[in-house]
Amino acid sequence: MQVNTAPAPALAVSLSARRSGPLKGRVRPPGDKSISHRALILGLLSVGETRIEGLLEGDDVLRTGAACRALGASIERTGEGSWRVRGRGIGALRTPAETLDFGNAGTGSRLMMGVVGGNGILARFDGDASLRKRPMRRILDPLVLMGAEVKTQTEGGRCPILLQGTQEPAPIEYRTPVASAQIKSAILLAALNSPGQTIVIEREASRDHTEKMLAYFGAEVVSEREGDGGRRISLKGRPELAPAPIVVPADPSSSAFPLVAALIVPGSDIIIEGMMMNPLRTGLLITLQEMGARIDVLDRRSEGGEDVADLRVRASDLRGVDVPAARAPSMIDEYPILAIAASFASGETRMRGLAELRVKESDRLEAVAAGLATNGVAYTIDGDDLMVSGMGSAARGNGLVATHLDHRIAMSFLVMGLASERAVSVDDERIIETSFPTFRALMTSLGAEFA
Ligand code: S3P
Repeated sequence: MQVNTAPAPALAVSLSARRSGPLKGRVRPPGDKSISHRALILGLLSVGETRIEGLLEGDDVLRTGAACRALGASIERTGEGSWRVRGRGIGALRTPAETLDFGNAGTGSRLMMGVVGGNGILARFDGDASLRKRPMRRILDPLVLMGAEVKTQTEGGRCPILLQGTQEPAPIEYRTPVASAQIKSAILLAALNSPGQTIVIEREASRDHTEKMLAYFGAEVVSEREGDGGRRISLKGRPELAPAPIVVPADPSSSAFPLVAALIVPGSDIIIEGMMMNPLRTGLLITLQEMGARIDVLDRRSEGGEDVADLRVRASDLRGVDVPAARAPSMIDEYPILAIAASFASGETRMRGLAELRVKESDRLEAVAAGLATNGVAYTIDGDDLMVSGMGSAARGNGLVATHLDHRIAMSFLVMGLASERAVSVDDERIIETSFPTFRALMTSLGAEFA
């Protein structure tokens, strides 16, 4: 195997957020990251032209675009958020000449492992120091069952990984070990080139964007309830995927930052436009409403096959709640920002069943805990549960938070700073570029103060 070194990180750029006046105004957060990755990938796998509006132009998604190009798609930006993909079709992908460098993108790399695994091509996957720590066995195991071969990997199934796909993936029935849309999606994407019927069973339902988009492109995919809250998804292989226009709704995971900021900065009153309301993504909204958040859901409508709505969010007196483990898949990326909201509540918030947070862009349980501690907020970790002691509007801040190449840690603690007596700093803001390149400008337009 070639010798590899992760790209040397350029100098970190710290950023502070300080107590701000009431947040006011209307904003539209960027396009959903999960849907943006999938739109490019399905564009690659269909023959003809896929038009995408509202694509998230963050680094993670651009890396997926580069990988799709390396596999033979032609991809063109025709305007802000407007992209055109000319695909190659299932089974007709090109072997990439270079390593597929996914940077920080866990979703992009894992979904593309599914694509490569189910096509007879060889590709090398790599990324930044964060991606190199993330477990990939969960993706590789089912792909190997389907006939793919892991030629080389780094200890413990980590990147860099050299994967040889198979041109005739075996249809499998697979129970995912954790409720993960990434595992499910990797299998379904590989199964597109399979001569039979592939079934994925998950104990708890994870986000369903892959299934929905595959059906929208003409695949025969059926999702049925399984047990208590689980799903059984079956896909018939070798469909003719027909390109269909995609409109990407605003990302609920990015919307969470202005949303919580408006709840905790006194006097705030904002509108968040076009947020996706897919029920497998709205766990944070439900939790905040249970905490007493004043959120009005306005103008519910359907856009591009997803339910969306505008949210009016007003500063609120929050109270601590107990968040059940079963809700985790529908808000898995929102726990860092929920921990910030919880610290401004009265009473304790208990968040249950957070084991998966340990294998995100950073160990988010540790990163959140350390950030709370350095800013004077008390917490306890009990197994996989996090308890945050709410301290209402009492003084906090003055901490420098280590972001560990994790965009959501950076944005969460900057939001904390907007309502804290003393400023909150993060050690590196550049990583925000991966999912929310307009974060600072959008927050500043509402009245947030950064330095
Ligand atoms: C994602 C699935 C989730 C989530 C990630 C995006 C997706 O990961 O944390 O940010 O787009 O499929 P898991 O599938 O590992 O839960």
